[in-house]
Formats: sequence, structure tokens, C-alpha cells
Amino acid sequence: MARTARLTENRRRAAGKKMTARNRSRAKSATPVTDAARAAAPPEFATLQEIVLAARRNLSPELWDHLSGGSDSETTLIRNRQALDALALRQRVLVDVSAIDTTTTLLGQTLSIPVFLAPVGAFLGLVHPDGAKTVARAAVARGTTAFVSTAAKPGIEETAAAVSEPLIFQLYVRGDRAWVGDILDRARGAGYRALCVTVDRNFYGRRDRDLVSRVAVREGFGDPRYQAMLDWEEVAWMKERMGVPLILKGIATAEDARLAVEHGAEVVYVSNHGGRQLDHGQGSAEVLSEVVDAVAGRAEVLADGGVQRGTDIVKMLALGARAVGLGKLLGWALAAGGEAGLVRMLELMETEIRTALGLMGVTSLRELGPSWLRSAPPLAAAGATSAFSYFEERRRAEEVRRVVTRRRPGARLRARLV
Ligand SMILES: Cc1cc2nc3c(=O)[nH]c(=O)nc-3n(C[C@H](O)[C@H](O)[C@H](O)COP(=O)(O)O)c2cc1C
Repeated sequence: MARTARLTENRRRAAGKKMTARNRSRAKSATPVTDAARAAAPPEFATLQEIVLAARRNLSPELWDHLSGGSDSETTLIRNRQALDALALRQRVLVDVSAIDTTTTLLGQTLSIPVFLAPVGAFLGLVHPDGAKTVARAAVARGTTAFVSTAAKPGIEETAAAVSEPLIFQLYVRGDRAWVGDILDRARGAGYRALCVTVDRNFYGRRDRDLVSRVAVREGFGDPRYQAMLDWEEVAWMKERMGVPLILKGIATAEDARLAVEHGAEVVYVSNHGGRQLDHGQGSAEVLSEVVDAVAGRAEVLADGGVQRGTDIVKMLALGARAVGLGKLLGWALAAGGEAGLVRMLELMETEIRTALGLMGVTSLRELGPSWLRSAPPLAAAGATSAFSYFEERRRAEEVRRVVTRRRPGARLRARLV
């Protein structure tokens, strides 16, 4: 019995090695994700870390940077992680946690987990031929929802038609009222159940990594200057025009949270665009409490920013979010394994959430609140991938190996042992 298990384990390891070597050679020619890598059945990822590793291998360096980077000095991006790392979870014991309810609701729709897929635009179409459709299908398959960006490829109609559940339309303003009216009519016609207006992109953040690599992920529609003219009255008009609940994405202060409610927002979405817009802003987890207090139950509150682990979700919920969005992790999972990669990422996220809740002695999300949190000094330097210590160690080891091999061409064999 033990021998059979060992043999199976050895075979599994050998298969894993073969797969790694094959993937590595594919990744070399990747621009940005090779057809071969996409066609290969994604391995059964055991952890989120493996997903991030696979994404790193499959994406070209430029697309990896576009997805994983922030604006300017990336201070806001780093603070998103730092703010989460600066919170510790409390735990109670001897509570029967044999059944845990991870459901929440968003505008009346039940979500099986308190996680949704945040709007990601043109990038999706660059890493997968079905782009936003893949994201929508994975979200619905796991009992949650997806926000579909104006910049989504394929278009908003095709994406909505790919799933049976109505999704949420995210608007970027790229034209005058006639242009906006037209796209809102199209979104309503396609069956979107809510309108999310992103309000933290009136200027396009300066993404230094993209500027250095000369990568321009083109959204390919309209005139972005119209976004800069957006004001509260215009947003209220959009809600009336589309006739569905309004979500304002990119709220980061109590003042704006109050105005959002006054202008008819049913959902206030705390976000700093994953640190891709205003640099030297606060981390989302830092501002969430002031927004929740200002909203005072008059609207639902969503949040995103640096969220990459089940414990991050639990912290955001304890701070008062109803559900939490994933941006970069969504992109990594798509690059790692297409639709199956996304589904697996959501499964692993659910497992992490359940494990955290079980170990905390919590049986329902409704029990969560600020009393479950304490501030704590963060341990490691925060960054885009700092939630994944194994990934970071592997990357460092690979870097050392590369440097050693480059310096002494004959040292390839020995370098493998480093
Ligand atoms: C590659 C990429 C593209 C994005 N595109 C959009 C978009 O089209 N519309 C939007 O409102 N937000 C967009 N965002 C922001 C996300 O919706 C989300 O707010 C952010 O990624 C959350 O932070 P996280 O990446 O740390 O999870 C994008 C983010 C990334 C990484």
C-alpha cells in the first residue's frame, strides 16, 4: 500500500517535472500567452501561489508588468497590501464550526462566496481569445458575479450572452451624452442588472512600467477626455437613463461616500483601481471603515485593492464590506489556466475563506465585524506579490540561478543546485 502510494507520488512528481520543463520552453516564446500553453490542460493548482507562478511563466514580462504594476512609485499599490497586512485576526475556540455559511448578497443576488470578479478591460482579450466571456463564465460557474468593463473584449453584448445570470456593466465615459445614452441602452438591452460607474479614472494614471516598456494596452474606443468632465449630476442622470441600481466605483473618502448616497448610489465601491491611478493614496483597507461609517447602512459597500488571500477577504468583510473584488488575481488566474484557472482560483479562495472562518470560530459572514480585528505591525515588505511567500522565494531562486548561469556559461549544471 505504502509502496503504491510512493510510486504514484513519484509518477506525479515526474509528470510535474515534465510539465514544468515543457511550460518553461513554451513561456520563452510567449507573446503574451502561447497557444500551446493555452491549449495545455491547466495543471490542478493546489495553491494560489502555483497560479501566480504559472501566470509569471505564461505572460510576457511586459504584460506581467502591465497587470501587476501600479502608477508612479507604486505607493498606493503597496499600501493596499500594507493596510491588509497591518490587521490581525482574532480567534475564538470551542465553537461548532462544522457548518459554515459563506453566502452574501449583492443588490438582492445571492453570491455563494463574498468574492466577485472586478472589471478588467482590454487586458483580458490580450491573454485569452474569449477574454471577458471566460471571466463571466467562471464567475457564474462558482456562484458569484463579474463586472464587465466598457473596454471588455469581446463586446458587452457577447459577454452577457455567454452566461445565464445577469452581470454588472462597468462604464468608462468616452463620449458626450448621446454616446453615453447609447451605450447605456445597449447595456440595458443586453440584460445587465446594475450600472457601475468608475469615478477614479478622470485622468489616466502614469504607469511607469508600461511607459518604460512602451506597452500601450489600447482600449480602442472613444475619447477619454469625456471621463474628466464627469460630475455628480451626470452620474445621477446615467442612473435614471439606464434605470438600474447604481454602483460608484473608486470611492475613497467619507465625504464622497455621503455624496454618492445623496446622488442615488445603491452601492458604494471602495477602490483605488489596484493602485493604478492616484499614487500616494491610502490603502483600501485603511479607508474602508470611514466609508462604512459615512454610508451608515444607506447603501451596500464593496471593496477591492490588494486582496489576494482568503484572510484578506475576511478582513475586508470585518471592516464592513459586503463582498470583495479581485483584479490582479483574476488576471493571473486567467493567464495561468484560462477559464479552468479562474474557476480553480475561486475554489481555492473559497477554501481559504472557509478555513480562516473555521479557525476563527465564525460560522456565518454576518457574525463578522471590527471586533474580530486588531492592528498588528506588518512583517514583510509589502508589494504586488508579497502575499505569496513561496512564489517570491521561487522567483528569487530563479533569479540567482539566471545570474550565476549568465556569468559562467559552463556553470549551468551547478547553477541548478543553487
Ligand atoms: C489589468 C487591469 C485592468 C483593469 N481594468 C479596469 C477597467 O476596465 N475598469 C475598472 O473599473 N477597473 C479596472 N481595473 C481595476 C480593477 O477593477 C480593480 O479595481 C483593481 O484591480 C483591484 O485591485 P487588485 O488588482 O489589487 O485586486 C483594472 C485592473 C487591472 C489590474
